Amino acid sequence: MGTKKIKRIAVMTGGGDCPGLNAVIRAVTKTAITKYKLEVIGIADGYLGLIEDRKRVLDYTDVSNILTIGGTILGSCNRANPSKYPVETSSGKIMYRDISGKCVERLADWGADALICIGGDGTMASAAKFAKLGVTVMGVPKTIDNDLPGTDFTFGFDTAVTTAAEAIDKVHTTAGSHHRVMIVEIMGRYAGWLTLYSGVASGSDIILIPEIPYDIDKVRKAVLDRSKKGKGYSIIAVAEGAKPKGGKMTIAKKIASSPDPIRLGGIANMLAEELPDGNDLSCRAVVLGHVQRGGTPTPHDRNLATMFGHTAIELLMKGTKNHLVVFKDGKLSSVPLARIAGKIKTVPKNHPLIRAAKAVGTSFGV
Ligand code: F6P
Repeated sequence: MGTKKIKRIAVMTGGGDCPGLNAVIRAVTKTAITKYKLEVIGIADGYLGLIEDRKRVLDYTDVSNILTIGGTILGSCNRANPSKYPVETSSGKIMYRDISGKCVERLADWGADALICIGGDGTMASAAKFAKLGVTVMGVPKTIDNDLPGTDFTFGFDTAVTTAAEAIDKVHTTAGSHHRVMIVEIMGRYAGWLTLYSGVASGSDIILIPEIPYDIDKVRKAVLDRSKKGKGYSIIAVAEGAKPKGGKMTIAKKIASSPDPIRLGGIANMLAEELPDGNDLSCRAVVLGHVQRGGTPTPHDRNLATMFGHTAIELLMKGTKNHLVVFKDGKLSSVPLARIAGKIKTVPKNHPLIRAAKAVGTSFGV
């Protein structure tokens, strides 16, 4: 696949879905077909389709009218890691094998001269490995978590922020009516981007993120101080990955077949139990869950996804390979996959949004 002229590309969406995937598939396919007369193969269900030989040719009409639709027309999978793929031995035992080489052979069988990987950190780690094995790869940064390094924003994030902020807005009125503490648990894995952005946008009173371990006494004090000032309710936006000082993140379950087996969750319910501590506080936990990954992408995400998809093809056709397309400092560019693979981007403690939130009285539980 190395330096060959590109005539046919394969495109896949990996990991958890998010709004804007279809917008990228559309931009990639339309640019590839219209401008460069390329043939486009859509891989079914992320790396699983590559492993199981499942694909279809995408033509112009396949990607028409999908810009505003959530999810992915190709399907996705966050369990198929080619580097650690479960294989059953003759004795019925499950062994994990690296089948990346087989995936590379499959792409060659399909006649794919390049692979467009639309995904998050797990997808990019495998993409970087394929690149090492000689595949021409271009990555496009997807995730509601906004935790991919090299880019200021991933597509899908803005939609999830909007969904979470709207949900918190709704919880606000019920909190006020019942004089309650509403604790809203927000996704984002090990990074607090989604909680910070939706928490500040919705005027949450207390925001708890993994990057700033909280002190439960300080969280309680912030709630009680509000009561003393006549605010008989509080909204706490808590990241699923938030943790107490010196403590650990709350794990909901472990999924052995997943490249990242840990699924976080449960912190909102835990806080609802822990917070009253003899005080007359009525607490309710709301877990937003996968609602945050659904729905039609916001106009911002549609535009970002369209620019990412278009740029991926333009860079590829100009000879860039094994890079991730990024949006950095207001400009589209790219960074080598090898530089970002296996890393995540967390919220800096001095982020301007944290400073602004503190200035308007938001507590971070410290
Ligand atoms: O990475 C996206 C994400 O939605 C995280 O915010 C969340 O922790 C995880 O995926 C949930 O994964 P699953 O869909 O496997 O439950």
